[in-house]
Amino acid sequence: MRVRFRSDAKDRLEKNSFVFIDPVENKGNWNNIFKNSNLIHLEIGTGKGQFIFNLAKKNPNINFIGLETQPTILSYLLDKIEGENVSNLRLILADANNVVNYFAEGEISKLYLNFSDPWPKTRHEKRRLTFKKFLKQYEYILNGAKLIAQKTDNMELFEYSLWSYSNYGFKINNISLDLTNSKYEKENLHTEYEDKFIKKGNNIYYVEVYKN
Ligand SMILES: C[S@@+](CC[C@H](N)C(=O)[O-])C[C@H]1O[C@@H](n2cnc3c(N)ncnc32)[C@H](O)[C@@H]1O
Repeated sequence: MRVRFRSDAKDRLEKNSFVFIDPVENKGNWNNIFKNSNLIHLEIGTGKGQFIFNLAKKNPNINFIGLETQPTILSYLLDKIEGENVSNLRLILADANNVVNYFAEGEISKLYLNFSDPWPKTRHEKRRLTFKKFLKQYEYILNGAKLIAQKTDNMELFEYSLWSYSNYGFKINNISLDLTNSKYEKENLHTEYEDKFIKKGNNIYYVEVYKN
């Protein structure tokens, strides 16, 4: 998805109290930031944020955090939250490589990975958000059933992720090889990439895994 560079994006993000640029400071403190004890759901690689923005509006009793590494891209989610106050949504501008430094053990109740970059070359396996190094970090920050919900149109990433989850001891809760035409679609909120890929006629793969 082409995004026009915004030179003021970082500055705008830094000035907004709903955005956290140094999330390490808030490890273990996110419920105080939301000023309630509701569960916290996290999306990694949130992009322009259509999914998490709509999910937060639909679920006012859950707290949501969108984590994204690109300032310009995250600034599009900032546009949305500036236009409409969604008190249960916060944004983090940071890299998921260090996610255990941003959240305490068991601080997150569910993780969403939507259309993550596939990194198809074998030498880039370590960058895939379902590589074992990431799963280890997710296991630490997640509580309860340690739910991870993933959507992608990339079959290779999907197959790799299923293999990686299974190797790490995650089990499948729900799965669809055609989310758009599945029973899960009724509750499914689309991301920007999802809309684009559906328009192209691509199948959307979906899996929800857990670990106990
Ligand atoms: C293909 S886009 C998908 C965006 C959105 N989830 C959607 O479905 O429309 C992947 C996004 O993940 C972000 N991303 C990739 N690696 C990341 C990382 N290590 N930490 C945080 N964000 C990351 C990218 O900057 C990009 O915005």
